[in-house]
Amino acid sequence: MTVKEALQSAAEYLAKQRLRSPRQDADLLVASVLQRDRTFLYTYPEHQLSTAQKHLFQQWLIKRGEHYPLQYLRGKQEFYGREFSVRPGVFIPRPETELVLEAALGLLRGSTEEQLRAVDVGTGSGCIAITLACEEPRVVVTATDVSPIALKVARQNAEKHHCLDRLEFREGQTLNPVRDRLGYYHLVVSNPPYVSHEERSRVDDAVDKHEPREAVYAAESGQEIYKQLFSEGRKVLQAQGKLVVELGEGARQGICRLAQEKGWVLEDSRKDLAHIDRCAIFGRPSDEKP
Ligand SMILES: C[S@@+](CC[C@H](N)C(=O)[O-])C[C@H]1O[C@@H](n2cnc3c(N)ncnc32)[C@H](O)[C@@H]1O
Repeated sequence: MTVKEALQSAAEYLAKQRLRSPRQDADLLVASVLQRDRTFLYTYPEHQLSTAQKHLFQQWLIKRGEHYPLQYLRGKQEFYGREFSVRPGVFIPRPETELVLEAALGLLRGSTEEQLRAVDVGTGSGCIAITLACEEPRVVVTATDVSPIALKVARQNAEKHHCLDRLEFREGQTLNPVRDRLGYYHLVVSNPPYVSHEERSRVDDAVDKHEPREAVYAAESGQEIYKQLFSEGRKVLQAQGKLVVELGEGARQGICRLAQEKGWVLEDSRKDLAHIDRCAIFGRPSDEKP
C-alpha cells in the first residue's frame, strides 16, 4: 500500500463514518503511522507502508471511524507550540485555551516582582501550568486536579519540558489543595469543566464518549467550579491578584453575574476566532477591605 492509496482509502472510509474533517484526519493518521510530517505525504505519494505500518494504519482507521480521538491514538497534542502527551482519562488541550494562557501570561509578564506564584485549577495534561512555567521563568506553578491520571500525565509533561523544578502537583477539589496558603498567589487560572448536564445532547460524540466526564461536565448549570473559584480564590490570592478563567459558549453574562455577586470585578475579556467570549479576567475592587 502506498501513501497515496492509504490517504485515499482513509479519507473515503472516514467520510462514510461521518467524521467532520475526513481529509484532514486521513492526513494526520497516515503521517502519524509513518512518524513523518504532512509534507512528506505529498512529496512521496508512492512511498510504500511497511507491513507493521499497514497493520497500525488499519487498526487506527477503525478506531478513528468510531470517532475515537486522533490525539489519543497519536498520544499527543500541540499546545502553544509545544507537544503534550495525552491519553484516555486526560482532557485533550484545545486551541481556544491558548487565549486563557496568553491572558495569564500577559498578567505575569506585566508584573515587576522577582518571584511569581500561580495556581492552575484542573490542570489536565498540564498544558496551561507547564506553558506558563516555560514562558515565564519567574513563576512557580501549583497544578491541581481531581484526577490522579491527569496529574501523572501532567508531571510527565513537565519533565519532558524541563520545568518540573518550578511545578508542584496537588490532588483535590478546586483550590482545596492550597487552602492553607492565604494571600499567597499572584494568579489563579482555570479552564474548568463547564458543560451543563442538560447540554449533553449537543456535545460532540467523540468528546462525550471518550474524554473524561469530570473534565467536560459540571453541575449547577455548568457553574459549579466557577462558584468554588470565586469563593475560594479570594482567600488564596494576594489583594492585587487576578483570576483568569475560560468560558463556555454563551456563558459570559452568567459567569460575570456570579463573579459580581461574590465581589469580583471583570477587568478584561477575550473572544476566540469564532467571536465567542472565551476568557475573562477578574480582580478585586481596589477599595476592598482585606
Ligand atoms: C476542561 S479540563 C481542562 C484541562 C486543562 N487545564 C486544559 O485546559 O486542557 C478540566 C480539568 O479539571 C479537572 N477537574 C474537574 N473538576 C475539578 C475540581 N472540582 N477540582 C479540580 N479539578 C477538577 C478535570 O479532571 C480536568 O482535568
